[in-house]
Amino acid sequence: MELGTSFTQFLIDQQRKYPSATGEFTSLLSEIATAGKVLSREVNKAGLIDILGYHGKLNVHGEQVQILDQFANDTFIKILRHTGHLIGIASEEMDDPYQIPDAYPKGKYVFLMDPLDGSSNIDVNISIGSIFSIYHRKSVGAHATMEDFLQKGRDQVCAGYIIYGSSTMMVYTTGFGVHGFTLDPSIGEFLLSHESIRIPSRGSIYSINEGNESLWGDGVREYVRQVKKEGKSARYVGSLVADFHRNLLKGGIFLYPADAKNKNGKLRLLYEASPLAFIVEQAQGKGSNGHQPILDIVPEKLHQRVPLIIGSSEDVEAANACIAS
Ligand code: AHG
Ligand code: MN
Ligand code: MN
Repeated sequence: MELGTSFTQFLIDQQRKYPSATGEFTSLLSEIATAGKVLSREVNKAGLIDILGYHGKLNVHGEQVQILDQFANDTFIKILRHTGHLIGIASEEMDDPYQIPDAYPKGKYVFLMDPLDGSSNIDVNISIGSIFSIYHRKSVGAHATMEDFLQKGRDQVCAGYIIYGSSTMMVYTTGFGVHGFTLDPSIGEFLLSHESIRIPSRGSIYSINEGNESLWGDGVREYVRQVKKEGKSARYVGSLVADFHRNLLKGGIFLYPADAKNKNGKLRLLYEASPLAFIVEQAQGKGSNGHQPILDIVPEKLHQRVPLIIGSSEDVEAANACIAS
C-alpha cells in the first residue's frame, strides 16, 4: 500500500483484500473520521474561543465536565446517528446509552466512546484524544439493551482512537492489524502514514502516575523499582491516548493500577481499556488488569473501572509477574 493513500481508499482496499471484512461499516468508519476532523478543528481553536472552561456539571464519575467534552460527545452522536449502522451509543459522558431515534434508520452495531480523553489537558495545549469501540448488537428489538453494551473486549469488531497532537492522527483496527492515518489539514483528509503497526516486544519507557506511589500495593512498587534499575525512562502525559500512542509506536508500558484510593483503578473498561487492549493485541502487545487479559473481562456495568497495564508484551508480562507475587 502506498503511503499517502487516503483513509477511504484504504478502507475500500481492505474490504477487497479480506473477504470476511465485509466493509459493512466502511461508511461508519468514514463518519468517525469526519467527527475526528470536526473535533480536531475545535481542539485547535480551544484557546481562542469561549468553548473552553468548565461546564459546571458533574458526570457519572463525579468529575467536572468541560464544554469540549460535551461538544465532542454531541458531535459523535450527531454525525453517527444517521449512518444506519447503529442501534445505540454509550459514552463516558452519558449516564445511560443513547438510543438511535426512530427518525433514523437503525443498524446492527453499538458504538461506545470516550469522546474526549485527557480533557484536563485542554487548556494547557497538551495532546488529547477520542477513543471508540464497536460491537455487533446482541438484542433483536427496536432498541439497544444493556447486553448489547456489556460485551467482553474480545468481541469487538472495531476499535480506534483519534489523537489531537502536534498532528491529528487516527489509529484503528478491525482485527486485521493496526493502521494509522495522519490528517493533512491542507486537504482535510486522513492519509495512511503508519501501516500495520507493531509494538516492540520490549520498550524503554514506563508510564505511571508516580504521585500515587503511597497508595500502591507492594507488587506495583516492586515493578517500578525494577524498571528504574533497568534504566527505563519515565514518561507520563496524563492523557491516556497520548501515553498509549507513544508507547505503541516506540515500545513501553502504561500502568494505572488498582490502589488504596481507586480499588478498581481509574480507567473505564468499556471506553478506554477494552478498545486500547484490542488495538495493542492486534499490534502484538498485551493489555491486562494484572491477572487476566482485559479482552476476557465480561463487563457487569456500563461505567465499570478496571486496573490497566498495557503495552509491550514482555513488559506487561514482567509487571504481571510482580503484581501476582
Ligand atoms: P478523561 O479525560 O477521559 O476523564 O480521562 C482521564 C484520564 C486518562 O486520560 C489519563 O490516563 C488518566 O486520567 C490520568 O489520571 P491521573 O491524573 O490520576 O494520573
Ligand atoms: Mn479518558
Ligand atoms: Mn473523557
